[in-house]
Order: sequence, then C-alpha cells, then structure tokens
Amino acid sequence: SSSILRPSVIVLLPFFAPLAAVNPPRDVRFSSYNLRNVVEWSPGPEAPSSTLYIVEYAIYGDEEEGSPDQVVWRAKRKCARVAGTRCDLSNETRDLEEKYYARVRAEDRRELSEWVQTDRFDPRSDTTFGPPTLNVTVKDRNMMIAVQGPGRWKSENAKREQPMSKYYPQMRYNLSVYNSRTKQLNNSMELNLLDFDTRYCVSVSAFFLSGLYKTQGSQPQCVTTSKGKAAAPAGTQLVCDPYGRAPSGYT
Ligand SMILES: *[C@@H]1O[C@H](CO)[C@@H](O)[C@H](O)[C@H]1NC(C)=O
Ligand SMILES: *[C@@H]1O[C@H](CO)[C@@H](O)[C@H](O)[C@H]1NC(C)=O
Ligand SMILES: *[C@@H]1O[C@H](CO)[C@@H](O)[C@H](O)[C@H]1NC(C)=O
Ligand SMILES: *[C@@H]1O[C@H](CO)[C@@H](O)[C@H](O)[C@H]1NC(C)=O
Repeated sequence: SSSILRPSVIVLLPFFAPLAAVNPPRDVRFSSYNLRNVVEWSPGPEAPSSTLYIVEYAIYGDEEEGSPDQVVWRAKRKCARVAGTRCDLSNETRDLEEKYYARVRAEDRRELSEWVQTDRFDPRSDTTFGPPTLNVTVKDRNMMIAVQGPGRWKSENAKREQPMSKYYPQMRYNLSVYNSRTKQLNNSMELNLLDFDTRYCVSVSAFFLSGLYKTQGSQPQCVTTSKGKAAAPAGTQLVCDPYGRAPSGYT
C-alpha cells in the first residue's frame, strides 16, 4: 500500500507544506512590582512588526477533570491578540495563596507559533517592593520623618489601593539616617539631638527579617539643621539625588 500512497504524498506536499513557520516569542517571563504582575516577552527572531501575541494563564494545580496532567489554560481576553510585548495579569494573579503560569504565542498572517511558557510565578515571593515614600522635615535640631507605603498596585477590579503591609504583616522599615559631616550612617529609629548646621540624608526601604524579599530603597531626602542659637526656618526640606548630593538649585 505504501507504493500507492507515495505518489500522492509527492503531489500534495506543495499544497500542504507549512509556509515559513512563525517564530515563537522569547524571554517569556513574569515581572512583578508591588504586586503589579505583568507577563512580558521579546519578539521572536525576524518577527515582522505586524505580529500579534496571544496570552493565556493557568493556576498551578488547576487541572482538567479526569486528566490530572492537563492544566486548565484560561484566556486573557484583553490580551487575545495584542501588538505589544506585555500583558497585565494583576487581576488574574491576585490571590497570594496561589501560584501561576502564563504562556504566549505569536500570530502572523493567521499562522500561529508554538506556545512559550513562563516559569512558575509565586506573586507573594516574586514581587519587588518599591520604595516607601518619605517626608522629612527639620526644626532646629529636631527631625520629623514620616514614612508611608509602598502600596499594592491597584488592579482593574480593586476598589482602592491597599498598603503592601496589609498582605505582609511581617514587613518593617529600614530607615537610614546619614550624617554628611561625620559620614556616619545610623539605622536606629532613636536619634539623639542632631548636630547643628549639619546635613542629614534619610532613606528608607521595606525590610524583612527573613531577607526573602526584593526591596528597593527610596531616594535620600536631605535636611540641614539650624546653624546654632539662631533658629532655622521650620521645615527646611531638600531633594537629593541617589548619592545624597543636592541637585543644582537646592544648595
Ligand atoms: C479578574 O479576574 C477574574 C478571574 O480571576 C475574572 O473572572 C474577572 O473577569 C477579571 N476582572 C477583570 C476586570 O478583568
Ligand atoms: C510633610 O510633613 C509636614 C509636617 O509634618 C507637613 O506639613 C507636610 O504637608 C508634609 N508634606 C507632604 C508632601 O506630605
Ligand atoms: C538598611 O539600609 C542601609 C542603607 O541602604 C543598609 O546599609 C543596611 O544594610 C540596611 N540594613 C539591613 C538590615 O538590611
Ligand atoms: C545611632 O543612634 C543611637 C541612638 O541615638 C546612638 O546611640 C548611636 O551612637 C548612633 N550611631 C551612630 C553611628 O551615629
């Protein structure tokens, strides 16, 4: 029978051989900042600018009934044919008790690429904590430091922004106060009366004793204490670059 089939295979090949296959996207991964969970990717090699992408996600352990190795992939409607290279899945991946996957494939001129899947994504431990906001004011030799946040990214369905500390009750702040005259850094919340006529730079980051989480520190905020007996104007407040130097216009 193979001798009968062979000629027809030769005839059919030119019609059914796939056209140049669509290259799948590359570097498909989750990025997460204050629980804003976004799947990102790069276009495959030589992907034309007309390429669209299709995104699906799955909850770890959520398997098809009757076929336990078959994960249930769910479509993200907003990312069913997107031209960009990212898709916000914050709402779909908002449950911090779950772990997730996403997968992406390319579509060009009705041809589809293979799926490319992310590593397992654990929003709770994979997110990066952004810098808290600082408000530093000084009066004479007293400094007032107010720290707030970071706040959880507000996804489409969330009513209001929640502080990250609501989901991570073990979160603390690492507050650093740098004396630019003595060049001493103090991480203690208790500060003695400050030195006169001295610039102090304050920065803060979210902090965990376990050291398990990625955090980003705030830009330092610098204040200068009064010159001595003459009272300085209350609430002197300066903005600094990441190295503690005041940018031009603030000296
Ligand atoms: C949020 O995600 C859920 C699935 O977890 C989905 O049913 C719902 O439609 C999504 N809401 C929005 C606004 O996308
Ligand atoms: C910073 O704190 C001072 C004094 O506590 C307050 O008057 C000021 O409004 C605060 N600024 C911001 C931006 O919150
Ligand atoms: C707190 O932040 C300071 C300044 O960034 C850093 O030098 C110090 O190591 C941090 N402390 C802890 C316990 O992480
Ligand atoms: C940090 O502050 C504490 C409490 O005020 C003080 O005992 C300590 O000497 C300070 N350390 C430095 C390096 O300034």
